[in-house]
Amino acid sequence: MQLPSHLTIQNGHLMSGSHDLVDLAGRFGTPLYVTNEDQILDNFERYESALSSCYPNVRLLFAAKANGNLAVLRALGRAGAGADVFSSGELMLALRAGMKPDRLLFNGSSKTTDDLRLAVETGIRVSVDSIDELNQLSRIASEQKKTVQIAFRVNPALEVPTHPKIATGLATTKFGIPAAEILSAYQAALDAPYVVPVGLHCHIGSQILDVEPFARAAAVMTKVAGEVTAIGVNLEFLDIGGGLGVPYHRSTDVAPTPEEYAQAVMPIFLDGIREIGISPEFWVEPGRWLLAESTVLLTKVNSVKRAYKTFANVDAGFNLLIRPAMYDSWHEVIMANKADQKGVEEVTIAGPICETGDLLAADRLLPAPVAGDLIAILDCGAYGFAMSSQYNGRPRCPEVMVKGDCAELIRRGETLDDLCVTMQVPSWQQE
Ligand code: LLP
Repeated sequence: MQLPSHLTIQNGHLMSGSHDLVDLAGRFGTPLYVTNEDQILDNFERYESALSSCYPNVRLLFAAKANGNLAVLRALGRAGAGADVFSSGELMLALRAGMKPDRLLFNGSSKTTDDLRLAVETGIRVSVDSIDELNQLSRIASEQKKTVQIAFRVNPALEVPTHPKIATGLATTKFGIPAAEILSAYQAALDAPYVVPVGLHCHIGSQILDVEPFARAAAVMTKVAGEVTAIGVNLEFLDIGGGLGVPYHRSTDVAPTPEEYAQAVMPIFLDGIREIGISPEFWVEPGRWLLAESTVLLTKVNSVKRAYKTFANVDAGFNLLIRPAMYDSWHEVIMANKADQKGVEEVTIAGPICETGDLLAADRLLPAPVAGDLIAILDCGAYGFAMSSQYNGRPRCPEVMVKGDCAELIRRGETLDDLCVTMQVPSWQQE
């Protein structure tokens, strides 16, 4: 299996950079998310240079939903990334991480009045998802006497090869404005007080292991951009949405590279804008490709049960990594303390949650497990901790970041007391 470049095996142990993951688990406890900042920065640099070598006006907005840890946002922000934020919370995180408002785009199909108010106050651009939302935004901007720059999210009505729950640009999804109605949306924006339309946005889906759908999206975007320009909109950016998928099946998946993505998408974009006679910035919002492989989830075997199958009962479940339960996702598994030993037994990695579906991985050929072994679940940096919960009364685990020789907590683990901190006993129960 091809490992991410930050992972190696030395003396039987799995390492991230110079850090022995068995030692880190001993030092910080398990379960534990470990993120390698150098891997994130390498990935960012590669994605950006693949695109900017085709066109200089490229901007990468990290999809903060994939991983909202401040240390991750700060690392990416310092490298030059902006962020796609999908809530006031993600907006606040991006700003606290030091990202500049002009590097952010507020996305979302169901924003509250408070979200819109915050966007106007902060002065960030908004991707508007309906005419109703445009009218609300214009009213708020008028109240504040502050101009807001917007894009519309077009629904490109594209079928894409991915899990149906994360295909976001189908005609039937809740996202975006149908292409047939997009011109009237821009006309309404041109007429609306305190609103300036400056961009066009779309998103076709996530975990797509093929460049062709992105090329089709670029074609839709440039076609719509031509029509929008013709009615007098000055498009400063086209935002084609998320990034490439990643090879979760590390032995068999064939995943396109950012260079292949650029070769497929950029000529269509460049031809399109040349024909229209505009030179907008090219924006992308990758989440998974930048983060997934940077992070492992370390989980300890509590007990082994040889029943219908061999179950390694571990201390992390879908409370900490919901992707396998939610999308039947595959994550590679390595026994971090026996990383050089051959697999001898099919093992199912079972979490501690009271649900049958709480399996992190099924039937994996691994060294014979015993209590105390350390399992590393790979490619957990995107939509891993970000989708965690306290289900079954389980405090969330800590996160550690490594860089060079340093390893530090970037989020402390929650305590049992933390489970109660936001709850209140109602007055009638207080006697
Ligand atoms: N921009 C928008 C508007 C999005 O909706 C998304 C992802 C992205 C960017 C980032 O896409 P990426 O580059 O990561 O593919 N929880 C699911 C993934 C949901 C993605 C939703 N939108 C999972 O774990 O697979």
